Amino acid sequence: MPPPPSFGAALPIKASPEVLRFLALRRSTSAVTLTEPAPEPNQLADLLRLAARVPDHGKLTPWRFIVLLGADKAAFAARLEAISSGRGDILQTGKLAKLKTPPLAVAVISTPKVAAIPEWEQVLSAGAVCSALVQAAIAMGFGANWITDWYSYDSQATTALGLETGERVAGFVLIGTPREPPLERERPSPPDLVTYWKP
Ligand SMILES: Cc1cc2nc3c(=O)[nH]c(=O)nc-3n(C[C@H](O)[C@H](O)[C@H](O)COP(=O)(O)O)c2cc1C
Repeated sequence: MPPPPSFGAALPIKASPEVLRFLALRRSTSAVTLTEPAPEPNQLADLLRLAARVPDHGKLTPWRFIVLLGADKAAFAARLEAISSGRGDILQTGKLAKLKTPPLAVAVISTPKVAAIPEWEQVLSAGAVCSALVQAAIAMGFGANWITDWYSYDSQATTALGLETGERVAGFVLIGTPREPPLERERPSPPDLVTYWKP
């Protein structure tokens, strides 16, 4: 990994067939097939640096990361289990395998600021962070998946995660080593989605 470029450094645009190939073939991995090893601490630091390198109108940094690792992630999952089973919600209790199985989860938190930049744009920037993190993890040779699930939307769960008023979960990015390669999914056909504006 190159070190972070210094502020104002020239960053020439160069064609990168390797990146095009990566984008053409990359695929998220089912979270329940993700196992050890997780990224090492220095790899995680690199991943977060790459994830934070996204378009951000007004340089507001309207997002932050909460890392859930190993026993701490297990303790968070146990809190979620207590929340859902306390309500007698067996279905939600059983839906935690995607969070519990992978060795690492990074919660990307949308933290919109009061600013001239519309909140919508700040939220979109948090989505870009999730996407960049998934892609960076895959490019580093790990499997990754962006999920939300009920605990991204449940106020007790987000309080347990440590969210402040006004913050929302953009996604849990689950990362680990895939036990099996992901299979291609159906993809939309871009021509079906495109119109050309005409005056
Ligand atoms: C905002 C968002 C939330 C998602 N939440 C879930 C989820 O809760 N559970 C799930 O199984 N998949 C969820 N997904 C879908 C997975 O990430 C899915 O694996 C992904 O769309 C596959 O994309 P890819 O094959 O292009 O990498 C979510 C996707 C997005 C964009």
